[in-house]
Amino acid sequence: MEGMLIRQLQDTAADAEAVRAIAASAFHATEGMAPDTPAGAPAARAQRLAGTRHLVRTDPGGCWIAEQGGTAVGAALSMRREGVWILALFAVLPSARGEDAGRLLLERAAEHGRGCLRGLLCASPSPAAARRYRQAGFTLHPAMRLTGTVDRSGLLDPGDIPVHPGSAVHTHLLDSVDRRTRGSAHGPDHAFMLAHYDELLIADSLAGSGYCYRDGGAVRLLAATSKRIATRLLREALARVPDGEEALVEFLTAEQEWAVDVGLEVGLSLDTRGYLAVRGMRPPAPYLPNGAFL
Ligand SMILES: CC(C)(COP(=O)(O)OP(=O)(O)OC[C@H]1O[C@@H](n2cnc3c(N)ncnc32)[C@H](O)[C@@H]1OP(=O)(O)O)[C@@H](O)C(=O)NCCC(=O)NCCS
Repeated sequence: MEGMLIRQLQDTAADAEAVRAIAASAFHATEGMAPDTPAGAPAARAQRLAGTRHLVRTDPGGCWIAEQGGTAVGAALSMRREGVWILALFAVLPSARGEDAGRLLLERAAEHGRGCLRGLLCASPSPAAARRYRQAGFTLHPAMRLTGTVDRSGLLDPGDIPVHPGSAVHTHLLDSVDRRTRGSAHGPDHAFMLAHYDELLIADSLAGSGYCYRDGGAVRLLAATSKRIATRLLREALARVPDGEEALVEFLTAEQEWAVDVGLEVGLSLDTRGYLAVRGMRPPAPYLPNGAFL
C-alpha cells in the first residue's frame, strides 16, 4: 500500500499510547466488542500501556507498528517463549483496513517467531483476523465465554486441597506448571502479571499443582496439573470476585468442560466468542489462557 511504513515499536510512552489508541478504536468499532468501561478505564489504560512496554522490552523484534503519512494506523505485538510464538495484539484502525496493513504487520511479527514450531493466540470474532490466522497455518478452536454475577450459593465445599495466595517466590512453580500444560514457561510475563493483577492463587500439594491469576472479576490465567486442582482453583477465584463485579472467564474450548461446569454451578451465562488459535500443538489443558500472554 502506498505511503505505508512498517517499523519496529520503540520503548517510549508515545509508541505505547499509539498502540493503545489503535486497539481501543479497532476493538470498539468491531461489532460486539466492548470498549473499556468508564469506571475501569484509567486502570485498564495504565495496564495496557505497561503491557505494551513490557513486550517491547522482552521482544523488540516481535512488536511492529504501521504508519501512514506519519500517523500510526495499526500494530502487532508478539513474543517468543521457549519455542512458542505468541501473538498478543493485532489491530488496524477501521479507516485503514482492507489495504494490507494487517497482512504486512502480521508478516513482520511472524518473522520473529521463525524457528518456533508452536504458536498460540486468542482471536477475536473478527472474520478478517480469522482469515489471516488460518492463512498463517493456525487451527481455530471456537471458544466459549462465561459472564455474570457469581451466585455464592452455588459454591461447593472446597474440600481438602489447600489454596493460598502466591508471589514472586513461586515463579519456579508457575513456570513448571506452564511447561507441563502449555509446553513453555511464561517466564518474564509472570513478573508483569504479579505486578498488575489483583491476586495470584496457588495450589501445591501431593494431589498436584496449579495457579490462577484474578483481576477484578476476570480470571486472567489458570494452569494446573489436573482437572481436580484446576476446578478447585477456579471455584476459589470466582468466590473471591468482589461483590458488584461482573465475572469473566474467556477463551474456553471444549477441552475446558471442567471450567464450563464450574461457571454453570455459580450461575454464570455461557456464550460463544472468538477462538483459541494453535499451531503445532493442542490446546493446553486444564488451562484457561490469558488473552495477551496466553
Ligand atoms: C484483523 C485486522 C487487524 C485486519 O486488518 P486489515 O488491515 O483489514 O487486514 P488485511 O487487509 O491485511 O487482511 C484482511 C483480510 O480479511 C479479509 N476480510 C476483511 N473483512 C472480511 C470479512 N468481513 N469477512 C471475511 N474476510 C474479510 C480481507 O479481504 C483480507 O483478506 P485477503 O488479503 O486474503 O484479501 C482488522 O480487521 C482489525 O483491527 N479488526 C478489529 C480488531 C481485531 O479483532 N483484531 C484481531 C484480534 S485477535
